[in-house]
Amino acid sequence: MSQMPPVRPLSDLPVREAGAAAPRAASTPDAMQAMLPARGRFITFEGIDGAGKSSQIAAVVELLQALGIDVEQTREPGGTALGERLRELLLHEPMHLETEAMLMFAARREHLAARIEPALAAGRWVVCDRFSDATFAYQVGGRGLDRGKFDALEAWVHPGLQPDLTLVFDLDPGVAAARVAATGVDPDRFEREQRDFFVRVRAAYLERAGRAPARICVIDADRPPAVIRAEIERIVRERFFQ
Ligand code: TYD
Repeated sequence: MSQMPPVRPLSDLPVREAGAAAPRAASTPDAMQAMLPARGRFITFEGIDGAGKSSQIAAVVELLQALGIDVEQTREPGGTALGERLRELLLHEPMHLETEAMLMFAARREHLAARIEPALAAGRWVVCDRFSDATFAYQVGGRGLDRGKFDALEAWVHPGLQPDLTLVFDLDPGVAAARVAATGVDPDRFEREQRDFFVRVRAAYLERAGRAPARICVIDADRPPAVIRAEIERIVRERFFQ
């Protein structure tokens, strides 16, 4: 590919030719820093249920791989063995809204420690289906969780870390509900929520996007998949490869 990312990609790492002597140990902090792999990038996908992000996640992973990036695809709640067990509870077991919020962040803590942080530190990129913006949208916006409690959990679990890019799939809740129904899959606890709930979730996503416009791009999800895919590819290229 002619366009290479300005983010110290893996190809910038010193490559040792076969048989060459191992580099001498770095003796200064700067030299040690230079020997570390560049930190990977963290991209998240968000939106109300039925907004159609899944197929687009696969497309972004394919695009990055075609550009020579080492990518890890994951999801929340989930992404680790423990996180997937918490996901089962979160999606199917009725619980208090604060229990729900804390379990979302508990699963996230595990995910960050076991997968996301090690991958980014090793120079791999992480593409994640949902992250803390979902907790803001669903638990604060949808369920009415106290904002201060959300802020405290977020500051506790990932101080100083936010995705490098978040794509919010924005869609009318009625259209999204029809898409969910059309899958024929048994709906989970969230998918069974009423239209009002998703109106609030959508509004919370848009509010959050308005507060972090440099990080969060709102995608009009009421268009053909190929058109959405082309827009996302343009955003990813502009953001990371120009
Ligand atoms: P989702 O990831 O969309 O999976 P699928 O496409 O297989 O249904 O579903 C996870 C659900 O969890 C979704 O309804 C949103 C909800 N959720 C929250 O309420 N808060 C969160 O912090 C996260 C990560 C997800």
